[in-house]
Amino acid sequence: MSTQEAGKRAVGEAAAQRVTSGMKVGLGTGSTAAYLIKALGRRVREEGLDIIGTPTSFAAERLARAEGIPLVTLDAIERLDIAFDGADEIDPGLNLIKGRGGAHTREKIVESLADPFIVIADSTKLVDQLGTTAPVPVEVLPMALGPVTRRLEKLGARPVLRMAKSKDGPVVSDQGFWIVDAYFDGGISDAQALNEALLHTPGVLDHGLFLGMAKRGLIGNPDGSVQEVVPR
Ligand code: A5P
Repeated sequence: MSTQEAGKRAVGEAAAQRVTSGMKVGLGTGSTAAYLIKALGRRVREEGLDIIGTPTSFAAERLARAEGIPLVTLDAIERLDIAFDGADEIDPGLNLIKGRGGAHTREKIVESLADPFIVIADSTKLVDQLGTTAPVPVEVLPMALGPVTRRLEKLGARPVLRMAKSKDGPVVSDQGFWIVDAYFDGGISDAQALNEALLHTPGVLDHGLFLGMAKRGLIGNPDGSVQEVVPR
């Protein structure tokens, strides 16, 4: 196991220890969140932990079901007691870029209903400025690809339509939309302005900037230790 993988596993398993019976838990997507879901599943089976999960993607839903975690949709509940999810970048204010797995739209919905939302990640995800190592994924209505791409270029991005690996053509999200990865060479100078601009672009369903949402972070180090961080 790589040191990065060790950090992911350590933080996923540490996060699962923060959950207590009776909680409604937002279940994130991605390789780090998968360690959390597996550890929660073990606690459900072995300790009788009594929780209900709300998944952030088809992938998280399938994994949680396989692990025996009872699930509920957002039709049935108003708030979540806690949510955990990974990130592609975390800045010192715990602002995030998410969506490498294309799940950011559902992740944002679920995590906006959780108090607290806790980001879980290995230490390679920490950055001084958003956009320096990861693009901002933008989920786009397919017929709006042209105008949205041109708008992204005007906003200073290098837009790249995300292509599928085991299928010809673009990645299709859980919503049936396409994903454009917006690269900002040199980083994003004003993430709040970019957030506003993207949300006001017709044809954009949502994007991978999560600003001011994570109240705490758990960071997994290569040696398997985990540290808690708060926004600076
Ligand atoms: C899913 O679309 C993403 O937002 C993930 O949560 C994020 O990419 C982190 O994934 P890893 O835990 O696999 O690095």
